[in-house]
Amino acid sequence: MRILFVSSEVAPYSKTGGLADVSSALPATLKKRGHEILVVTPRYGQIDVATWDLRRRRLKLTISIKGKTIQGGILDGQSPEGVPIAFVDQPKYFERQGLYGENGQDYTDNDERFAFLCHAALETCIMSGFSPDVIHLNDWQTAPIAALVQHIYRDKPEINSAGTLLTIHNLGYQGLFPPEAIMSLGLDWQLFTPSTMEFFGKLSFLKAGLVFADKLTTVSPTYAQEIQTSDMGFGLDGILKDRAEDLRGILNGANYRDWDPTHDAFIASPFSMQDLSGKTVCKADLQQKMGLPMNHDAAIIGCISRLSDQKGIDLFLKKATELLDLDCQFVFLGEGQKDIEDSLDKLAFEHPHRLAFHRGYNEELAHVIQAGSDMLLVPSRYEPCGLTQIYALRYGTVPIVRAVGGLDDTIDDADDEFGTGFKFRDADSSQLLAAIKRALTRYSDRVGWRRLMESGMSMDFSWDLPARRYEAVYKEIRNLRK
Ligand code: ADP
Ligand code: GLC
Repeated sequence: MRILFVSSEVAPYSKTGGLADVSSALPATLKKRGHEILVVTPRYGQIDVATWDLRRRRLKLTISIKGKTIQGGILDGQSPEGVPIAFVDQPKYFERQGLYGENGQDYTDNDERFAFLCHAALETCIMSGFSPDVIHLNDWQTAPIAALVQHIYRDKPEINSAGTLLTIHNLGYQGLFPPEAIMSLGLDWQLFTPSTMEFFGKLSFLKAGLVFADKLTTVSPTYAQEIQTSDMGFGLDGILKDRAEDLRGILNGANYRDWDPTHDAFIASPFSMQDLSGKTVCKADLQQKMGLPMNHDAAIIGCISRLSDQKGIDLFLKKATELLDLDCQFVFLGEGQKDIEDSLDKLAFEHPHRLAFHRGYNEELAHVIQAGSDMLLVPSRYEPCGLTQIYALRYGTVPIVRAVGGLDDTIDDADDEFGTGFKFRDADSSQLLAAIKRALTRYSDRVGWRRLMESGMSMDFSWDLPARRYEAVYKEIRNLRK
């Protein structure tokens, strides 16, 4: 099949979270399975033309945004797996410090920036004679393409028979803008209604996709159910229930090219299920790098996370006094909300032997923490899938997770047969504390712990199975269009 895959972040070029990992690994697996795939993504300022050997096409994009003519270009690149990637080049929109904003503030012209990306993706198909069977959209940044295909591009021969799939990676981010943003997209005001793109007086980019895409998926089966409830539907549960027939949950995979301790270039020593001696080296390396006491017996509990309300770090903070009294060490890596950053900074200052915090985004340190920790904490309030707990399994780092969304789908409790981690049910700090205590008790049983590590390390979350599930949805979409 011919697939156009559009995403606002693709690892290793640009990344703020798991969307980047998925946008790298899924297209690569689809290509390996014989599909023709083109990925379209912005060329942000951080993506260096020479480093990635990008080639400029002798074509100009000319797109009208709010009545202004904006020109842009395409830079062609190739992922490490040989997937062709068209980088949309528009310096005024994309050559900035951040992907979506700076200093905790979204860019005020995000509607224009991502409207440009949406049009550019379709114009790229037209200019290069690429007629996709399916256009695969990801999150609010590219969701409006579903509306553009239906209302603007249908008469273009290259787009004419294309169907659309929107994958929801996170319903909490919807791309809400003032109503005038409809003019950034170049769509008619008639589409600004509650049954189309309006959301409580605002224009919702995400809703454009929820309404107009042929099929919808999200990144775990449990999250597919949760988003149809008023508790977790972010006000969109009604429309998701209406579209339940077209909505599927496909669990993400893990990209073991980047996340496997047998060949991870970032870690102090490789290790495997058969030979865990390297993990001891990685633990000492982590303690040294984070300035923690070099105590091998103390369990290290790591946490690698965007610091937003979603991730439930407040549950940890609420019980910090009790938690920091336990015989273990905590390592946090993350950035985001200033209140959470400041609280973690304060704890690290007050308890330097117990807790270390690295504020910021650091790819290398994320690997060092996965490899050197004994446990990984993911206490999310909601979690569409979650990737860090899946990576942790491969590193023999036992996840402690809240049983929600994809966390519930990927981790089995250690009290059950073939368990791989520790789960707590509610977003309740006492339950989090109890789960950590339970994990520490189990940790002191060396033989039982080793068995638990092995259960996790032997789990296979590679992308082949999810890719096959996407293929099935693509086929349904193609049949719809025939
Ligand atoms: P989300 O996409 O909601 O942030 P996921 O668990 O799906 O959550 O994906 C998070 C990805 O981002 C993982 O690859 C993780 O290692 C990475 N990550 C998160 N925060 C940081 C950070 N501060 N530094 C480096 N990598 C990070
Ligand atoms: C989102 C979700 C996360 C998911 C990732 C990739 O950022 O928050 O749970 O793993 O997308 O699908």
